[in-house]
Formats: sequence, C-alpha cells, structure tokens
Amino acid sequence: MRSPQKLRGSPLLMRLLLLLVALCAEGYRPVVIVHGLFDGPKQFETLSVYINKVHPGTEVRVIDLYNNMSSLKPMWRQVTDFRKAIDSIMTNAPDGIHLICFSQGGLICRALLSTTPSHNVHAFISLSSPQAGQYGDTDYLKWVFPKHLKKTVFTFCYRRFGQKVSVCEYWNDPHHRFQYLQNNNFLSMLNGDIHHSNIKAWRENFLRIRKLVLIGGPDDGVITPWQSSHFGFYDSNENVIEMRDQEFYRKDTFGLKTLDARGDVWTCTQPEVKHVQWHSNYTVFMRCIEKWLT
Ligand SMILES: *[C@@H]1O[C@H](CO)[C@@H](O)[C@H](O)[C@H]1NC(C)=O
Ligand SMILES: *[C@@H]1O[C@H](CO)[C@@H](O)[C@H](O)[C@H]1NC(C)=O
Repeated sequence: MRSPQKLRGSPLLMRLLLLLVALCAEGYRPVVIVHGLFDGPKQFETLSVYINKVHPGTEVRVIDLYNNMSSLKPMWRQVTDFRKAIDSIMTNAPDGIHLICFSQGGLICRALLSTTPSHNVHAFISLSSPQAGQYGDTDYLKWVFPKHLKKTVFTFCYRRFGQKVSVCEYWNDPHHRFQYLQNNNFLSMLNGDIHHSNIKAWRENFLRIRKLVLIGGPDDGVITPWQSSHFGFYDSNENVIEMRDQEFYRKDTFGLKTLDARGDVWTCTQPEVKHVQWHSNYTVFMRCIEKWLT
C-alpha cells in the first residue's frame, strides 16, 4: 500500500490517471447480449470475457430473461419484456449501446428495434440468427416436435395454438406459403410479408441503427438454410435465394435495402463453426464482432 502522503505528493499524476480511467470507461459503449433458444446468460460468459479482454472496461450485460425452456414462450411477449430490460440500459447510456443477439435472440432484437421509436442502438450484431426464417430437420426440432419432420411441422405451427410457441413464429415453410401468410403472427409482420399499418413506422425505427452485422456459416448445423443468417432463404423448390433477391429486400419493407444502400450492412461468413460455438469462438469474435464494439 502506498502511504497517503505519497499520493498527495503527486496530484498531477493522480489526476492524469483518473482522467485516463474516465476516458477508457467512456471509450466503449455498453454491450447488451440477448441469448437464443434453450440457453441463457451462462452460455455468454466466455463472450463477456473476450469483450473485456480486448476492450477493457466495457459494460457487458446479458439479459437474464426467458432462459432455457422459457425461451419457447411467445415471441412478442418476449420482445416486450426484453425491451423493458434494455430500455433502462439505453437510458443510462446517452452515447448509445451495441446489441449482440444470438440465434432466436436475433429475431427478438430485430423486432425490438423495429418497434422502439427512440432506441439508441449503434451496431446490431446478429449472430447466426434465422433472420429470414427456419425450415429444417434439426436436433432442436426433434426435441420440440418429436412426432414431426420439417414437412409436417406446418400442421402444428400454422395454427392459432402453434403460434404461441416461439419456434413456430419464425417457421417458414416454403411449400406452404399461403398458410404461413394466413397464420404467422411474427416473422410475416417483421419482414413485411403481410401489410400492416405500422410498416412505415417500424422501418424508420429499425433504420436508427448505424450498422447491421450478419454473422453465419455453412457448418452451423441448426440454422436452415444457413444463409437465413444473412437474410437468404429457400424458394418453393428449396433453392436458396440470396438477400438482395428476396422480396422483402426489393420492396424495402423493413429498411434492409436502405441500410444496404447506406453501406451499413456487413456480412461475415465463417466455416467450421457449429451453432453452439458462435458465441465462444475467439476467431469469430476477432474477425466478425470486435471492430464494431467501439
Ligand atoms: C438454465 O440452465 C442453466 C444450465 O444450463 C442453469 O444453470 C440455470 O439455472 C437455468 N436457468 C433457469 C432460469 O432455469
Ligand atoms: C472457430 O472458428 C474458426 C473459423 O472462424 C473455425 O475454423 C474453428 O474450427 C472454430 N472453432 C470452434 C471450436 O468452433
């Protein structure tokens, strides 16, 4: 321990040090993390460590809501509660925050951004999230619907009670477009696949972000098609149509085309990353995430 006398002896140095600490603390905007299906804050401890290793002093908050099984609850209800939690963080961060949202969390975040008029989110980082929907036989699907394969899931999902289960609300069966448009109450609104009175306002809200970062890769194993993480999706023959040829892009229903024209859509593709590894892979962090967290 230094004696108080010594400290008093170098007030200039002390003041410089304090100034430096203050500058560092101000240097990085807070980072808010929204988890995915069947996980929670526990799975993001590694990512929090990475962020603070490279950007010391960053405030990282993993929202502790709808963890594990509760993540199957209805999407709009989750959006409302995540918004409450994130609103108070935004209020205390006048320079804005960054969002890192994993898997299903990426859709929760996009819905939150579209429906929050005064948000101050700078970078919205969508980490292997089925932004254009999901259609595939995966372990997750087998677990939620043991009796269904992707071909028949629509019989459950595209009904009123089905739309009370989160995974159904972004289930996008390319062979049952009509039922999707008729019954879906989440993704179809978010993407502007159906018209609704808030489309224009939602687009303006979403466009408040400074940067959209889309991260995904071919070895994900869960997001199907994996290009959905980059807003690509199947046509009715299950050929993948890339983002810029999607109707929601061409019609700019929720602002994606405008963002892209602004130069603010950035995609990052990484091979050999399994779905549950995205948030804990240091290479992914350094190549796709780090530079946006300033
Ligand atoms: C969720 O699961 C983790 C283990 O994976 C556990 O530590 C945590 O307590 C669970 N949270 C809730 C709310 O059940
Ligand atoms: C981490 O990501 C890199 C690609 O960015 C990949 O080659 C490597 O296999 C990944 N490691 C794990 C454990 O996921």
